[in-house]
Amino acid sequence: MVERDCAEETPPVLGVFDSGIGGLTVVREIRRLLPAIPMVYFGDTARTPYGTKSTETLRRYAEEDSEFLLSHGANILVIACHSAASVARDHVAGRFPVQVFDVVGPAIETAVRVTRNGKIGLIGTRATVESGVYQETIARLDPSIEVVPQPCPLLVPLVEEGWLRRRETRMIVRKYLRPLKEKGVDTLVLGCTHYPLLKGVISEKMGKRVTIVDPSEAVALRVKEYLEREGKRPGTGPAKELFFLSDIPPVTGEIARRFMGRRIEFLPAEPGRSNPGPSPS
Ligand code: DGL
Repeated sequence: MVERDCAEETPPVLGVFDSGIGGLTVVREIRRLLPAIPMVYFGDTARTPYGTKSTETLRRYAEEDSEFLLSHGANILVIACHSAASVARDHVAGRFPVQVFDVVGPAIETAVRVTRNGKIGLIGTRATVESGVYQETIARLDPSIEVVPQPCPLLVPLVEEGWLRRRETRMIVRKYLRPLKEKGVDTLVLGCTHYPLLKGVISEKMGKRVTIVDPSEAVALRVKEYLEREGKRPGTGPAKELFFLSDIPPVTGEIARRFMGRRIEFLPAEPGRSNPGPSPS
């Protein structure tokens, strides 16, 4: 993460992007800590999923998504998508002159801090797990820590279908988590936007002694601390916010309600093109 100053006096406007609707788990946590911060969200539903894409494609998408948010008034970026953050966070931070947060950095710091036996489990999409970012960063921070990675590609569609407590979901979760349990991890990182919705089932399967790290909480806290440290006022009054999606199929509203716990009005967007339009500030 590269820390840079925004122009003085400029009120902070968070720009949050994700491959689709899952990033709303990050928005929800940010809202809990910063109820009035102006925010613009972009979900790339036309090009989702990101979890199966190559590094080159994800870097291009992340750049276009960031440009879109900046063109709508964002002056701080939050990469809510783990797959994009895993391979493109340095790329985005090096490309745009704004503060960039992402879900991976704070999750790694939290996991390294809380593990007692030095065995950290990581679940995520293939793009996240295969990027090696957790393994490499943690090895640099503390070479004695072992990361046990497990891609869980079936969990995203199950969450989007709302199969949060179904028997089939529990069986699949159990199967994915078995190798992590066998390795004796005492900490598990939920390395995907969708997994906080399965936290109950995951935690039940892992057992009480395993600490679950939810990166959406970790990154929200990091943003709040940054604003306080920089003396930036996180807004007052009712929150100004805009939610853009690159495709809005009919089922969108229902899925979004599951993630946010409330109704959201979505606006259409096309990243990669110039999109002059409204901003939340
Ligand atoms: N948002 C993605 C992530 O956190 C999950 C969905 C996808 O594969 O695009 O990795």
